[in-house]
Amino acid sequence: MAGGTQEIESRSVEQTLELGRALGESCRGGEVIALIGELGSGKSLFTKGLAAGLGIDRPDHVTSPTFVIINEYPGRLRLYHVDAYRLGGADDLDALGIEEIIDSGGVVAVEWADRVSDCIPGEAITVRIDITGDSRRRLIISWPRCFRFDNVTLL
Ligand SMILES: Nc1ncnc2c1ncn2[C@@H]1O[C@H](COP(=O)(O)OP(=O)(O)OP(=O)(O)O)[C@@H](O)[C@H]1O
Ligand SMILES: [Mg+2]
Repeated sequence: MAGGTQEIESRSVEQTLELGRALGESCRGGEVIALIGELGSGKSLFTKGLAAGLGIDRPDHVTSPTFVIINEYPGRLRLYHVDAYRLGGADDLDALGIEEIIDSGGVVAVEWADRVSDCIPGEAITVRIDITGDSRRRLIISWPRCFRFDNVTLL
């Protein structure tokens, strides 16, 4: 796995969007992004930024797929947005054909990835988000050796 890690403090919604966008811009297809963090930590917001970086037409329309489990958005790279919150576990995602989706060359973002860890490849990118204040979040982005990512600087 030994690729890299960046720990960074976001001080606003906009900064979290910016971080997601930077990650999206670095994607080449085939990435799985495991989002981990408590309720309201910013996983969906980060995914919105990611969508912008993937060239999705209307990233504002990227909303949490809690009720439909998986949403698909066309763009420079196709985004599959999964929310595992209401799933029983990895078997439920297997039943949806997540392996084929992961192999399809798009980018798969999984909220609550820790609940379906058996479906998350070892080479996934991990984004942990901790709530550190009303409008502050600590993000820890870890990526595998096969992924090129330059550390982001927030203004
Ligand atoms: N710096 C920040 N980064 C991200 N979100 C922030 C920040 N500061 C405040 N927030 C607020 O935190 C909330 C994050 O909501 P979001 O839906 O992205 O969380 P989530 O992790 O997807 O939650 P859930 O587990 O319910 O899916 C929003 O209401 C947003 O306005
Ligand atoms: Mg969410």
